Amino acid sequence: TLTPTGEIVDAAAAAGRGVGAFNVIQLEHAEALVAGAEAAGAPVVLQISENAVRYHGSLAPIGLATLAVARQSSTKVAVHLDHAENADLVAEAVQLGFTSVMFDASKLEYEENVRATAEVVRRCHAAGVHVEAELGEVGGKDGVHAPGARTDPDQAREFVEATGVDSLAVAVGSSHAMLTRDAALDFDLIGLLRDKVGVPLVLHGSSGVADADLTRAVEAGMTKINIATHLNNAFTTAVRTYLTENPQVVDTRKYLAPGREAVAAEVTRLLGVLRSN
Ligand code: G3H
Ligand code: ZN
Repeated sequence: TLTPTGEIVDAAAAAGRGVGAFNVIQLEHAEALVAGAEAAGAPVVLQISENAVRYHGSLAPIGLATLAVARQSSTKVAVHLDHAENADLVAEAVQLGFTSVMFDASKLEYEENVRATAEVVRRCHAAGVHVEAELGEVGGKDGVHAPGARTDPDQAREFVEATGVDSLAVAVGSSHAMLTRDAALDFDLIGLLRDKVGVPLVLHGSSGVADADLTRAVEAGMTKINIATHLNNAFTTAVRTYLTENPQVVDTRKYLAPGREAVAAEVTRLLGVLRSN
């Protein structure tokens, strides 16, 4: 069932559970993520990034397909616009029926980030849509790893009050697009942020975090855990193995199916690691 993001994330935050938020590029990702969540008996967030929209050329085809997968699922599924810098794209997502958006103005100076985010919050809340923002830029989006960035707890609290955001992405030692799972998280800072900020916290770049540290991050106060690269790795590894073993095959279904199965199985496993069920 398509479910408000706030309902899933707030319930998890109150119960000390994690919520897996996984990226959709192709339709097969959406199918795999929902199959994996159903097998785990856990809710899930399907997210489409502005980068993925750029790849497709527009949001509606992949966005509506993802919403359709969510609507027919037997578990609670939210559909989220990830890392949007463009306010028009946010408006389109709201209009299509997305249950949340991440407005990422983290590259802007603090005052500008507040002003732009507050405006997006005003418009999204009028439509009942949950808004995530980011403070203290999590690196790696441009291929440059910056695991040293940190979000200041007092500034985070002030930012949440000034903007009215519903959840906050914070910098605590992770970095986007890591293939090795050796990021060193600052668990004390996660605890401080949890105590100060007052809205659920979001961990970006979670592909770089080892299983045990993902569980520890949730226990320390992280709620929404964004994982993309790690699942792309699972998908592509399975496709590559299949194609290497079956070089004559040309039917795309034959090699995408093992990729889809590999992602579903890994999602089921990860949702256990995140204490989602
Ligand atoms: O917003 C998406 C995530 O932060 C995913 O990052 O590809 O490093 O797992 P990742
Ligand atoms: Zn991210």
